[in-house]
Amino acid sequence: MKQASKSFTDNDPVLHSLLSQSSYTGRTGKEHSSTANSTENNLRIIYDFIEREKPSNTLEIGMAFAMSSLVFARYHERKHSPPPPHVAIDPFQTTHWDSIGLIHLEQVGLKERVTLMEEYSCIALPNLMQNKKKFDFIYVDGSHIFEDVFVDFYYSSRLLNENGIILFDDSTDKHVRKVLQFIKKNMSEHFQQIDLSAYGLNPEKKIRYNVAQRLGKTQATAFRKIGSAKRDWNVKFVEF
Ligand SMILES: C[S@@+](CC[C@H](N)C(=O)[O-])C[C@H]1O[C@@H](n2cnc3c(N)ncnc32)[C@H](O)[C@@H]1O
Repeated sequence: MKQASKSFTDNDPVLHSLLSQSSYTGRTGKEHSSTANSTENNLRIIYDFIEREKPSNTLEIGMAFAMSSLVFARYHERKHSPPPPHVAIDPFQTTHWDSIGLIHLEQVGLKERVTLMEEYSCIALPNLMQNKKKFDFIYVDGSHIFEDVFVDFYYSSRLLNENGIILFDDSTDKHVRKVLQFIKKNMSEHFQQIDLSAYGLNPEKKIRYNVAQRLGKTQATAFRKIGSAKRDWNVKFVEF
């Protein structure tokens, strides 16, 4: 008999239940539809990635209802003693999102494990750099406008440790895809694309995922930073 594949939320009933809800209630009592959530597939990739790569510290741009924050914070709680905080950047957590992400973290006792920077990423990221922070894993899922994604990549590439991983959500979005094209065409020496079919997928889904990956049609795209990724100021430009 074929065994049901084990879901990464099997051991996390709270995340499981939050992911199945169509709306959440904020501090002011207002209802928000859950459409801003990362997909379960992306969360599974993050989960599998950090379980295998064991990053010491993690950063995400875009918190919303804290689905990805929960995966990161749980990982740190399990693996590190004392668990280091996960850093999440989102300028709209207490305003537009009515603190729903923070409420979710409170509900599972993980609020202290997440440092929220409630600022635009173009302010928060250089701030982290100035304070000499470094990360092993960065999840880019904030504003999806080209220039913002580019700025997120620019600073993330400097905030990543050597061998660190950067994972982008919504890779098929035209704005995001343009930034990914820039990385692939101009920075392939420094950022090596990772085959995500090796992460979080059961064997049946791997083949389909491989094809989609070759066509640039997967939702998530990840790169590993090779070396310091420093480029000469007058390096040749490749059209993208
Ligand atoms: C798709 S949601 C993030 C979903 C979340 N990662 C999850 O797993 O459920 C995108 C988030 O980016 C935030 N955002 C928008 N512009 C931003 C900016 N300039 N800097 C940082 N975050 C931004 C939004 O407030 C929103 O919460």
